Amino acid sequence: MPDIIYKNQLDYLSSLRTEPDELIYRMEKYAEEKKIPILDWKSAELLEQMILIKKPKRVLEIGTAIAYSSIRIARKLKKKAHIDTIEKSKNNIKLAAGFIKEAKLNNINVIEGDALTVMPALDKKYDLIFLDADKQDYERLFLYSLMLLKKNGVLFIDNLLWHGYAAPGKTPKEYERSSAIIREFNKMLVYQDTIEISILPVGDGIGLGVKK
Ligand SMILES: C[S@@+](CC[C@H](N)C(=O)[O-])C[C@H]1O[C@@H](n2cnc3c(N)ncnc32)[C@H](O)[C@@H]1O
Repeated sequence: MPDIIYKNQLDYLSSLRTEPDELIYRMEKYAEEKKIPILDWKSAELLEQMILIKKPKRVLEIGTAIAYSSIRIARKLKKKAHIDTIEKSKNNIKLAAGFIKEAKLNNINVIEGDALTVMPALDKKYDLIFLDADKQDYERLFLYSLMLLKKNGVLFIDNLLWHGYAAPGKTPKEYERSSAIIREFNKMLVYQDTIEISILPVGDGIGLGVKK
């Protein structure tokens, strides 16, 4: 997969990266080997900074996978704060549970199910929502996220540059449909008037917004 920044810039940033701890490093290697998509490390660092700035009490994540981002978020939360994370794959839930146990965290609540049915049943609002699920579901999940976000709540969305293929240019056949979906989603996103949102060229492209 192409990175969206020049290789020499990425190499430079990577050389400045302080070593992640053993568990985080192992999870990154595991995800790479098993081809499980997780948040790019640069985006994960941005998300951690957002947690430190915003100090959310209630965080919702849509798309747990192996709990890489859940663990990185949970470690930065204040005492009494927690993260609810929704995952529909039973196998990923099993993997996530193992890593969460290793991380010795008790502030991560994994909710099993499809976010499209789980989210409408949630009633308490969140201070920060991280959307990282199947791209064809993004528009509906975004609208549910808006409903579940408090005023001034932060929305963080991954993959808005879609490996560089959201921008016009040569797109491999297997990415044509998903790239078109992301393009439509981005167009809809920037014209929303209930959220102040920007698309940032970090990692695979991050949508970062604050609900009005
Ligand atoms: C990109 S991965 C999440 C990566 C994770 N946030 C991280 O950075 O470590 C997307 C995950 O979302 C799950 N997923 C996709 N659509 C979903 C939905 N509608 N409801 C619940 N889970 C979903 C997939 O099974 C997959 O595990």
